[in-house]
Parts: sequence; structure tokens; C-alpha cells
Amino acid sequence: MHFLVIITALASLSGLGAAVPDEFTALGCPNTTKPEASPSEQLAAWDEFTNLMYHEKRISDAFTKYAAAGYINHSPHVTMNGINETIGELSQIVPYVDSQLQRAYVGWDTNGTTYGTAHTKVSGGEAMGISDSALVDIIRMVGTCLVEHYDVQQTIEGAGPNPIAFF
Ligand SMILES: *[C@@H]1O[C@H](CO)[C@@H](O)[C@H](O)[C@H]1NC(C)=O
Ligand SMILES: *[C@@H]1O[C@H](CO)[C@@H](O)[C@H](O)[C@H]1NC(C)=O
Ligand SMILES: *[C@@H]1O[C@H](CO)[C@@H](O)[C@H](O)[C@H]1NC(C)=O
Repeated sequence: MHFLVIITALASLSGLGAAVPDEFTALGCPNTTKPEASPSEQLAAWDEFTNLMYHEKRISDAFTKYAAAGYINHSPHVTMNGINETIGELSQIVPYVDSQLQRAYVGWDTNGTTYGTAHTKVSGGEAMGISDSALVDIIRMVGTCLVEHYDVQQTIEGAGPNPIAFF
């Protein structure tokens, strides 16, 4: 039922172009987030989310607290949107690798859209078939709620000439 409401709301959003009314509600942002937030509140939310995710590896806690139920996910590894699918995907990866967060910050485009960015060094996942990688996660925020994720990942081959490659 709740899911149907989200789908219906998303369908109506898609016809509206840039004027996106109340995505906070339409995407099912949790009540631990808020639709309007100051830059410092957004940075604090992003800081806690990335700490839960990459340092404490409390994936479910991180997403339940900060991500919309209808989280739009451009990760190539998921088959559909939504935090359940995302928590399922990350639970197969994050606990089994060493994630070293290099930098985490929040930025704004000319339209006032907010993005949280995390740059991470991923290693130690060989046994799971996960290559050492440079990873960038860009997540669009509405207030302090995480609503849409873009994935950028590059495998570290170790064969490049630059001794300071990637990090
Ligand atoms: C800002 O909004 C305009 C008008 O909707 C859109 O054409 C443009 O792509 C947006 N810019 C960014 C950086 O998202
Ligand atoms: C917040 O949401 C949770 C989970 O949906 C619910 O259990 C809780 O009662 C809500 N709290 C408030 C204050 O609305
Ligand atoms: C997500 O998983 C929870 C717990 O397993 C379940 O209660 C909920 O219905 C699921 N939501 C969706 C949209 O699949």
C-alpha cells in the first residue's frame, strides 16, 4: 500500500519536469530527516551518514535514518530503486572490504540542488571478488534526506606510471 503510494507519486512527478513538488513526501523520506535544512545541517547529516556507512558499516541504520524509502539508485548493481534493494546490495559488499573515506562534503548547484559526495578508497575485498577501487558516491539531498544516488567507480590496476595515482 505504502509502496503503491510512492509509485503513484513518482509517476506524477515524472511529468512535471524541473518543478518537482514535495519530493520529500513523494519519495517517502523518513521522519528522522527534514525537508528544509541549513547548509550546516545538511553537512552534519552527510557527515553522520558517511560515518555510519563507511566507518561503522551500519548500513541499515545509515539508510533507515537518512534515505527515502523510494531512494532512486543509479548503481549498476541494483535491479530497482528503493532502500531495501540498496541495503541488500551494500550488505553484500561494504562489510567485506576496507573502506577508507578520503573526503566527504556537500555542494550546491546553481539551482540550489544539494549533493553529498564521498570519495572512498576500497581495498581488501579480493576474497569476495571485489577489486581495489577508487569510489565516488554522489547523492542528491532534499533537506537532510538522501533521495538519489549516482555511482562512479574505477578499478585500481596498479599499472599506471603515476606514483600518486588516485589518492
Ligand atoms: C537548473 O534548472 C534548469 C531549469 O529547470 C535546468 O535546465 C538546468 O539543467 C538545471 N541546472 C542544473 C545544474 O541542474
Ligand atoms: C517515525 O517513523 C517511524 C517508522 O516509520 C515510526 O515508528 C515512528 O513512530 C515515527 N515517529 C514519529 C515521531 O512520527
Ligand atoms: C522493505 O523491507 C521491509 C522489511 O523487510 C518490509 O517491511 C517492507 O515492506 C519492504 N519495502 C519494500 C518497498 O519492499
